[in-house]
Amino acid sequence: MDQAEQLRRIIKGSAPQRRPLARVITVTSGKGGVGKSNTAINLAIQFRRMGQKVIILDADFGLANIEIMFGAVPKHNLCDLIYQRMGIKDIITWGPMEVGFISGGSGISGMSNLNRDELSYIVESLSELDEIADTIIVDTSAGIADAVLEFLVASGEILLVTTPEPTSITDSYSLLKALGRNPHFRPEMTQIRVIANKVSDANEARALYAKLETVVNKYLKVPISYLGMIPQDPQLARAVMQQMPVSLDNPKARAAVAYEILAAKLTNRELNKTIPRRGMAEFFSYIMSKK
Ligand SMILES: Nc1ncnc2c1ncn2[C@@H]1O[C@H](COP(=O)(O)OP(=O)(O)OP(=O)(O)O)[C@@H](O)[C@H]1O
Ligand SMILES: [Mg+2]
Repeated sequence: MDQAEQLRRIIKGSAPQRRPLARVITVTSGKGGVGKSNTAINLAIQFRRMGQKVIILDADFGLANIEIMFGAVPKHNLCDLIYQRMGIKDIITWGPMEVGFISGGSGISGMSNLNRDELSYIVESLSELDEIADTIIVDTSAGIADAVLEFLVASGEILLVTTPEPTSITDSYSLLKALGRNPHFRPEMTQIRVIANKVSDANEARALYAKLETVVNKYLKVPISYLGMIPQDPQLARAVMQQMPVSLDNPKARAAVAYEILAAKLTNRELNKTIPRRGMAEFFSYIMSKK
């Protein structure tokens, strides 16, 4: 039996859902440094303000972005869960406003070739996240590395952060192209929404999105839509220097207000009717079965 088949059996055999599955939102970009981690952390703070329980999974294999922005160093990461058999609750670090975060460490890329016991343990542990969190935000690294694409293929919901820089737009296009070519990508099961970051106003945001949409619709079979924008805001850069999310440091800052609006759109029932929730266990089993 291959790993994928084992996983299907494990998930089928696991206990019936006790509560609704967590919503998993993956934040990504084609180009680095365009504002993914800020998006992840500030949306997390805004969701908390709405009373949701939120966990951020830092799946960036390079620099550990989220922990730097939280000013908190996690003692453990996913590797400890897999190899030390720590509980999921033991590897969550709680940051400001009780946003939880889990550092992926090298655990995510090392998930291939685990035996059935290990797989069951991970799937069960991750299912617990569905009980701990209403929303799980996954912060990825930029680009079209296989590891990132696997996360995107597993995601029901993708937020693609793009800035007006020409390279950011072309890199977003390349990412969507790579995603569309991935044999496991299911366009009908995935919602990809674009966030225009570092724009001067709504017009620039719309123009940026229009540019991307035109080429995507012309050459790719990957459905995208526009979510909203975040202005270029010195207050955000200042907050980052102080290791604070701008939404906490200065809730009235233009960028913080923009995140508040994005969070409201993301929780608006009318706008989010069609998105199937996959929950955390399915999300990860998808990733592991691709290996
Ligand atoms: N709306 C904004 N206004 C002003 N500065 C911004 C804005 N968004 C991002 N920045 C600046 O860009 C920097 C990078 O942002 P962030 O770390 O969120 O990007 P990233 O996409 O996660 O980067 P990486 O690819 O390295 O993980 C921030 O430290 C901040 O200085
Ligand atoms: Mg980052």
